[in-house]
Amino acid sequence: MNLVPVDLAYEDHGEGLPVVFLHGFPLNRTIWHPLIPLLKEQARLILPDLRGFGESPVTDGVYSMRLLAEDVLQLLNRLEMERVTLVGHSMGGYVALAFAHAYPNRLASLGLVSSQTEADSPEKRQKRIVNARNVRARGVRVLAKNLPDQLTDDPALASEIKQLILQSDPKAVIGSLQGMAEREDASAWLPAIRVPTLVLAGEQDKIVSVEAPQTFVRFIPRGWLVTVPGAGHMPMLEAPDRVARGVKRLVQYAALVEEHS
Ligand code: MLT
Repeated sequence: MNLVPVDLAYEDHGEGLPVVFLHGFPLNRTIWHPLIPLLKEQARLILPDLRGFGESPVTDGVYSMRLLAEDVLQLLNRLEMERVTLVGHSMGGYVALAFAHAYPNRLASLGLVSSQTEADSPEKRQKRIVNARNVRARGVRVLAKNLPDQLTDDPALASEIKQLILQSDPKAVIGSLQGMAEREDASAWLPAIRVPTLVLAGEQDKIVSVEAPQTFVRFIPRGWLVTVPGAGHMPMLEAPDRVARGVKRLVQYAALVEEHS
């Protein structure tokens, strides 16, 4: 298994306890921008681009969730951050779960936004393989056509998201599709997550149905669920105040963890 990390590009805003935000597929760190003014007085916000996206290095091959978690670990080490609050959106949530499983001691609290814990069904896996083949043949525009309307019902946001998708590198898109298709089922890891964990879901999410977080949150000992009415798969863009409120609570918990360690 290739587990050679790369140095991720990132933005660094604000001061305080560190919160690292991992974006979803096939996007980049800019999806978190609406949260910066809402949180920068309370925390230090680290926004990396995952491997291959935004300004981070593109590599060949499968982008397994564990490999992407190694990239995050390398970033924390570079920044000399012992423990962080990690917030992952959708695929970023799969990476956050892989990180929580591999490096539990590096977490102070955890946020899973519009994400899920089960592995792909055979049908979903097949769909990703077809998508990867189409992107290889015809470029990322094949995803830019229909995906934005799946991600949000807000037409203005959908057109912004379309631009983000069009900027993404086909190699990163293909590598991530393969990595998600092959990802392990994380459900069995949940009882071992000891840190306070926010599970946040948009009630109108068409990618991850709200029933998934409603079910898996019960297996996280210190997990709680926030559902956001009117939001789809992109609550950080659709309802940034609600997401910021949840993250503030995670930072408060992180402060307690630091106090007692
Ligand atoms: C994402 O938003 O990161 C992806 O839609 C997740 C997925 O396809 O499973």
